[in-house]
Amino acid sequence: MVLTPRLELEDVWVASPEGGWILRGVRLRFPERALTALIGPSGAGKSTLLSLLNRLRDPDRGRVLLDGRDVRETEVRALRRRVGMVLQRPYLFPGTVAENVRFGPASRGESGPPVEELLAQVALPPEMAERRVDGLSGGEQQRVALARALANRPEVLLLDEPTASLDPGATLRVEETVRQLVETTGLTVIWVTHDLGQARRVADYVVLVMAGELAESGEAAGFFAGPASEAGRRFLAGELLPREGAGRAPA
Ligand SMILES: Nc1ncnc2c1ncn2[C@@H]1O[C@H](COP(=O)(O)OP(=O)(O)O)[C@@H](O)[C@H]1O
Ligand SMILES: [Mg+2]
Repeated sequence: MVLTPRLELEDVWVASPEGGWILRGVRLRFPERALTALIGPSGAGKSTLLSLLNRLRDPDRGRVLLDGRDVRETEVRALRRRVGMVLQRPYLFPGTVAENVRFGPASRGESGPPVEELLAQVALPPEMAERRVDGLSGGEQQRVALARALANRPEVLLLDEPTASLDPGATLRVEETVRQLVETTGLTVIWVTHDLGQARRVADYVVLVMAGELAESGEAAGFFAGPASEAGRRFLAGELLPREGAGRAPA
């Protein structure tokens, strides 16, 4: 079992280098020991919001709090052990699965949890430990990236479109694996996706971001049964409402 991290955004604003704001006045507390899907159209600010939680970026106004303390008060590597992250494309270094999975603890001179146990948590067989990562499928590599994040025993796991480069079968298997993790360990997961079908399959809660603002948040079942906000209704109905001037490719 893992700890119950309290992760909050307190009136958070992020400025755009081009002028204006990428995030505007976001106030939010993420539900603990559950999976929250962070949804919204491309360019809404989902990745930016996620990047504040492990200090890939800091807000220009407002605060991000972990257990009531500003995350800027915690040494960044210590914070990132508690708040792990897996991106759309796994960045693995050339070497074996075991070397990649042990990377975090090894860099601190620790042995960390047994590799076989971490592989089991992401539904990979123990004999995969000695395989080289470059021979693995995209889905397997993404699981190795998950196992590597879990090696730090994080309290929160941030996922940014982790299945965007996977085929439908591998996508479903990663979804199942992460659900299992939440249910068996009580991990807090925040999963950015622009895929409503995926959010519907995996999420306990949803947070909907539209054009840099928090449009709606609540239990997933309630949201999908009938959103409370007009923005939510329009998003569910498939009217994407991209933010003004955001004609660029998904980031
Ligand atoms: N470093 C940056 N420089 C300039 N614009 C950025 C930067 N990061 C994000 N943006 C802009 O902020 C908006 C939100 O981006 P992002 O958080 O990546 O959205 P999402 O993940 O929802 O697609 C987009 O309009 C994007 O172009
Ligand atoms: Mg994004």
